[in-house]
Amino acid sequence: PFILSIAGGGSTYTPGIVKSLMVRLEDFPLAEIRLYDIDAARQDTIAPVVEKVIRDHSQSIKFIVTSDAETAFSGAHFVFAQMRVGQYKMREQDEKIPLRHGVVGQETCGPGGLAYGLRTILPMVELIDLVERYADKNAWIVNYSNPAAIVAEGVRRLRPDARVLNICDMPVAAMRNMGAILGVDRHKLEVDYFGLNHFGWFTQVRVDGEDRLPELREHVARFGLLTEDAAQTDPQHADPSWVKTWRNIKPMMDHFPQYLPNPYLQYYLMPNEIVAHQDPHYTRANEVMDGREKKLFAAAAEYKRSGILPDAFHVGVHGAFIVDVACSLAFNLRQRHLVIVENKGAIANLPYDAMVEVPAYITNHGPEPVRMGAVPLFHQTLLMQQLASEQLLVEATLEGSYEKALQAFTLNRTVPTMQHAKAILDEMIEANRDYWPAL
Ligand code: G6P
Ligand code: MN
Repeated sequence: PFILSIAGGGSTYTPGIVKSLMVRLEDFPLAEIRLYDIDAARQDTIAPVVEKVIRDHSQSIKFIVTSDAETAFSGAHFVFAQMRVGQYKMREQDEKIPLRHGVVGQETCGPGGLAYGLRTILPMVELIDLVERYADKNAWIVNYSNPAAIVAEGVRRLRPDARVLNICDMPVAAMRNMGAILGVDRHKLEVDYFGLNHFGWFTQVRVDGEDRLPELREHVARFGLLTEDAAQTDPQHADPSWVKTWRNIKPMMDHFPQYLPNPYLQYYLMPNEIVAHQDPHYTRANEVMDGREKKLFAAAAEYKRSGILPDAFHVGVHGAFIVDVACSLAFNLRQRHLVIVENKGAIANLPYDAMVEVPAYITNHGPEPVRMGAVPLFHQTLLMQQLASEQLLVEATLEGSYEKALQAFTLNRTVPTMQHAKAILDEMIEANRDYWPAL
């Protein structure tokens, strides 16, 4: 049985992920679960809920809650990394500052994602170093800390040999919806996909060898990438904001029907429309703080008072996917999953060393990417511009370069002019004083 540490134990996602682990104990046996967080108070609030989830399934798994890295990682076989540097308070800034300038306010796309990247790269590397110091020599870090594209590039630059697998649940969430639309379990879908994280396209969706993308296309033209009543998706993605996001795939499909876009492309391909429908005073961070976070904290308080845990967190595709990936790493299952990997020719006309999102076979020595071939000029160009923005942001972080940060912001498709880029960057420097390296 494995020792598993969850870094960012105080996340609202932790109970759902642990629940996903508990229903898979036969596939992924656990001796210990350790929660690690630098915000001890937050983690202590959530830990009793996590412990209850564990005890409902197992009396024997040892449960440790700590802010000490050595206690957290000593001898660990797996580390799930889900840090959120600056927490939701800073997500709120990432979203609101660009919006004040009429630019998309989003946690991972546009200036918000770049700002979040500047906060996260160095702490992520610190975490890797701590894990390498204390954990089992063959330990794997399954990392889904955002902004995943930039974090992956930062890790590649600074710790190229680290045993880190970078993942995101968006493609698999899309596959869950495709499965619901087609009436097929998502595990039966085999997809081809190319891009960067939160910036890619499905090119085929096969069921028993037959490409069902044409059928999906017809559905998306009517309802977006969602079942008609949205009911068959998981609770997180069925809330009104996510329903809007999934439905909004439709205009992209209408214009460019060739492939099926990752929903995040809407922030880059139709930013004006997105901004027109965003409230600069109440963004997604506020929705999450007032919704998911409050609900879980209230449930934790209720549980402490009465011993009864209200239904307060969701067990969705997110946790199931993480467990699938961990199983494949642990037991060399060579399952095919969409993950973020160094390109090495998988996308023939993108740089060899780009961190791309493609299907890969997950082995016990890491992901083996599947060749997706060369992509059309339109997609290649969009990808190159986004990649350059992300790479310049990483270089800005490592060199403390204001100029490169400004270039990263200017190159981002969500940002219309260099003046917008500069105004937003300067405000973000102020807001991120406690987090960013000096630029
Ligand atoms: C998806 C993405 C994550 C992102 C999350 C935000 O799961 O893959 O990268 O963090 O959505 O969801 P939220 O409900 O917090 O807006
Ligand atoms: Mn993601």
